[in-house]
Amino acid sequence: MITASEWQPEIGVKTTWSCPSNIALVKYWGKKEGGKQLPANPSISWSLSDLCATTEVEILPKSSERLIFTFDHAPKPAFEPKLLQFLDLVTPVCPWLNQVTLKVNSTNNFPHGTGIASSAAGLGALATCLVALESGLGKQTTVGVEAGGNTVDGAALHRPMDWKKVSYMSRLGSGSACRSMYGLPAVWGETSAVNGSSDQYAVELDFAIHPNLQGWEDCVLIVDAGEKSVSSTAGHALLKNHPYAEARFAQASENLTSIVEVFGNGDVKRFIEIVESEALQLHAMMQTSVPYYLLMRPNTLALIEKIWQYRESTGQAICFTLDAGANVHLLFDAKNKLDIMNFVDTALFNYCDNKRYLCSSLGGSPKEC
Ligand code: DP6
Repeated sequence: MITASEWQPEIGVKTTWSCPSNIALVKYWGKKEGGKQLPANPSISWSLSDLCATTEVEILPKSSERLIFTFDHAPKPAFEPKLLQFLDLVTPVCPWLNQVTLKVNSTNNFPHGTGIASSAAGLGALATCLVALESGLGKQTTVGVEAGGNTVDGAALHRPMDWKKVSYMSRLGSGSACRSMYGLPAVWGETSAVNGSSDQYAVELDFAIHPNLQGWEDCVLIVDAGEKSVSSTAGHALLKNHPYAEARFAQASENLTSIVEVFGNGDVKRFIEIVESEALQLHAMMQTSVPYYLLMRPNTLALIEKIWQYRESTGQAICFTLDAGANVHLLFDAKNKLDIMNFVDTALFNYCDNKRYLCSSLGGSPKEC
């Protein structure tokens, strides 16, 4: 149960957090009818700990503007409607937002237009900052009469962060964002396979994952750096009246149960099967919706074939997954990193847009900066 905080905001208090993006292994694709951002099926993801948004939030006295937003310290009007909508949605659990104006600056440590889920990281970082402030983790920046000429460090009075609340709030901004809070794989959506799982927020697996699946990394092979031809939100809506929707939701739930078992038993072959099949199912749903979309590009397929050939010939633990776009996420056990980066640099990078790829460790949670 997520409760409304009774925190009274202090003007001049500020906090800065970074939050990772994440990549889904079992995909969230389709929302429950009648709910607000509730998933039609459970999903599971790994955080991309090196691909982060960093957000700074400062509390200003209430003015006519609810939000003063900059991205990389420059105005970014295009992002404001989504952020204002986010603030409206989270105000019931953070009623203090009605009493203040927020000054927010956000940056990403990965380039824009690379198809990395920047809204997951950005909204996750913003939700983290809001919960950090009401947990007393903000730092007073104003030296003034009230502060008796001293800076007040709220950390002395802080309460533990409520990560479920951060996840709940992030979800209201963007569904997949709610899975960026945890070091272990994060499950969002109610499933009997995971204790405490919920449609309202994500939880992390409550057991140590098998050593075979520890220390994996993701190399995001940038096939198309352009804007997505269909937004995720529009993509989810295509599942309404989709002839295969119910079968897909059932299949995703089964895959979720299986992959949770795999995280316990370390069956890498089965892991690869589930992850690759999920990626192809996501794209199959897009290809069979009305209207239909083909989000892969020729180089997406070329990369998948290269990855399959490499795995066949070396037996190494690597596989691919896809987002709702053309880029290929190459997931691999970093025990073999030298070989795999050599493979990327000789056989794969020619298929990437401007020979670009971005690498990240898997697992990782928001950090105070
Ligand atoms: C294909 O979370 O971006 O990445 O909830 O409408 O903001 P909204 O959609 P979003 O959808 C992500 C879909 C996906 C799969 C996944 O991350 O599970």
